[in-house]
Amino acid sequence: MLIEIEAEQLRVGMYVHSLDLSWYNHPFWRRRFLINNEADLSTLLALGTRVIVIDDSKGLAPQPRHDPVPDVVSIPAPPGDIAHEAVLVKSSPVPTTPAPHGPNSKPIPLVGAAREAEMQRASKMLHRSKTEVMTLFGNARMGKAISTRKLTNLVAQISDSVNKDPTIILNIARLKTKDEYTFLHSVSVCALMINLARKLGLDEVVVQDLGMAGMLHDLGKMAIPDVILNKPAKLDEDEWRIVRSHPEKGHAILSSAKCGTETALDVCLHHHEKMDGTGYPHKIKGEDLSLAARMAAICDVYDAITSQRSYNAPLSGAVALSKMLSWKGHFDQSLLRIFIESLGISPIGTVVQLTDGTFATVIGENPGDFSQPIVRTFHDPENPVSCVPKDIRISRIEGTVQIHEIIYDLTPELAEKARATSR
Ligand SMILES: [Fe+2]
Repeated sequence: MLIEIEAEQLRVGMYVHSLDLSWYNHPFWRRRFLINNEADLSTLLALGTRVIVIDDSKGLAPQPRHDPVPDVVSIPAPPGDIAHEAVLVKSSPVPTTPAPHGPNSKPIPLVGAAREAEMQRASKMLHRSKTEVMTLFGNARMGKAISTRKLTNLVAQISDSVNKDPTIILNIARLKTKDEYTFLHSVSVCALMINLARKLGLDEVVVQDLGMAGMLHDLGKMAIPDVILNKPAKLDEDEWRIVRSHPEKGHAILSSAKCGTETALDVCLHHHEKMDGTGYPHKIKGEDLSLAARMAAICDVYDAITSQRSYNAPLSGAVALSKMLSWKGHFDQSLLRIFIESLGISPIGTVVQLTDGTFATVIGENPGDFSQPIVRTFHDPENPVSCVPKDIRISRIEGTVQIHEIIYDLTPELAEKARATSR
């Protein structure tokens, strides 16, 4: 829905539909864009624009001015249903702890005994839930009635763990055996959706709803024969057609069970759509896809390509993210950048600015700590002529040089310098 707001209501995560400025008078390279970070927000406010039209189906909705804890929050409406604005009524409270990190802070991984304790707690919790969830998914396959009440509790527990340290659940779920894949992929996508939703600063009720949508996104796979899903060889065209039917099958299961929220139905149906309209099942283009569907597309692929599967070796997080950045037309690139920030991983090949001001390219990752990369410097603004490339292993040791931010838009000269140095 298009909503006119005043400049003071603007927040990171909102999707700007139009400004009361001539296109030529502002530095944003697209007419319509997501406000990615505080820097974008400051630039926008500095332009002196007073009225902005935002699209709350593609980003955050404005907060009501007199009711900071609304009973009803707007969430992305299902594509194709322009008249309908999906609403989510706050019902029974979900047992969660408040998010410790705001949208603009980096996740702080637990260390030492605290990490070990949370690993064990999360691992036991997932082990306990596995049978229950797989029974529920199995019932869905046989057309039996399903209830998401138990899943709500699991999503809340995953959410609590992501609150403490987003890497815990993701590390456990990454090591999937073949028979655990369906369950742990659902858990991972749930955790990734929650982590990304918090980075976007979404209301906690919406965060839980998106987590549940992540948990249920591949429900339709239960209707696909195992012999096709687990086939170790390449699928033929008929088999692909059957696999590609899983979003519609999942949507049909949820619809007939009347147990999915609008968000879960939307994500189930549209998590394989692509921004350029070449996805399936409906070939919907990016501007018509909901925020939830665009988030799910990113979380689903990231978990799939970083997991051990029968036909592919898993990619490291840094390599996976750099590949995803290179797939133009597949993902919402603005959202993907926020996803990268939410994980705190620097993709291989990306350019970063370090805390000492120098520019460097990420050339590897520290095997013991995936969020700490190895970088090669190529440009020092203080000393542009005689900067000697140097490899630096970024560490958590206080006082050492750190990554300040990822730089996506480089001048052609710096881009060439980065390429030449990292060869
Ligand atoms: Fe899927």
